[in-house]
Amino acid sequence: MDIVKHPIILGIESSCDDTSIALVADGEVLCNLRATQYQHLTYGGVIPELASRVHEETILPLLDQALYQTGISLKNLSGVACTRGPGLLGSLLVGLSVAKSLSMALNIPLIEVHHMQAHVVAHFIDKPCPKFPFLCLTVSGGHTQIVKVNNYLDMEIIGQTVDDAAGEAFDKLGKLIGLNYPAGPEVDRLAQEGEPKFHFPITKLEHFNYSFSGLKTAVLYFLKKQLKDDPNFIENNRVDLAASIQKAIIDNLMANFLDAAKQTSIKEWAIAGGVAANLGLRQRIQIEAETFGAKTYFPKLEYCTDNAAMIAYNGYLKFCSGDFSSLDITALARWPMP
Ligand code: KG4
Ligand code: ZN
Repeated sequence: MDIVKHPIILGIESSCDDTSIALVADGEVLCNLRATQYQHLTYGGVIPELASRVHEETILPLLDQALYQTGISLKNLSGVACTRGPGLLGSLLVGLSVAKSLSMALNIPLIEVHHMQAHVVAHFIDKPCPKFPFLCLTVSGGHTQIVKVNNYLDMEIIGQTVDDAAGEAFDKLGKLIGLNYPAGPEVDRLAQEGEPKFHFPITKLEHFNYSFSGLKTAVLYFLKKQLKDDPNFIENNRVDLAASIQKAIIDNLMANFLDAAKQTSIKEWAIAGGVAANLGLRQRIQIEAETFGAKTYFPKLEYCTDNAAMIAYNGYLKFCSGDFSSLDITALARWPMP
């Protein structure tokens, strides 16, 4: 096989609490394996030190499994793509060390990938892809961004959160109503059964920027007040609380996104990141798009939450343009989008 014309790219993702390995051959995902770390459940959030130790134990067996399942051997690989940042430093280092070792041992290029760029790139894996330029609302546990995507790897952030991310808001507010970490999927599930009968204020900032910390304080004080009169208020109203929290977060997300769409006149709309799995957000953006005359694009659920397929695909795009990294690179906990 001509490895340059038909590249096989290994993708490695270990930026937070999911270890993921994927193989992309000629732009087609052959496998996308993911091991989620349940070890953090009892702590109510991700413990960074524990996360890196679990990545260390999981990553090589997962790599073996990916090779076995696809029948691809290490010597077939054309390049190794890996999340360089942003994320938890210890966790990133595990993936990057494996990627560097493979690059060195197999004499194949190392390709660094920006995690938030890869969330957007998830849109190119399956057809139909959004047409350029498109607006992507990238909503994850650590980031909330409105991205103007001019071309495959040419992206501009035109608005972002100044404090908590949307996923963080789902997780923290879900915790206030007694849900385990990560609470986002459970808030989403409960919200389908409830009514958004409690009104929580949203904060609207200039320049399409977001803030979610005021919402957290508002819900906290509201619950404190209600619990004084009825100690079972949360148990008795959990589904309506979930629906109200979900509505407030989505209202907040949509307000700026719609302003950005109006100002740029872009009618190709996409959502990406873990919160893009949210059913309420998907329904809402669809409704707004119909009114606006826009088209919406959602990646498959397995490409919304953290996954190595998006890393491998991003690596494939960079491989095709010869954009390789030096073996001297270090992991970056914080890293502005290139
Ligand atoms: O992109 P992601 O997997 O990891 C980061 O890069 O942060 O996003 C994880 C976030 C978590 O906050 C999780 O609660 C949220 O995505 N999430 C959801 C849903 N599924 C995952 N939030 C709301 N509704 C969902 N269905
Ligand atoms: Zn992510």
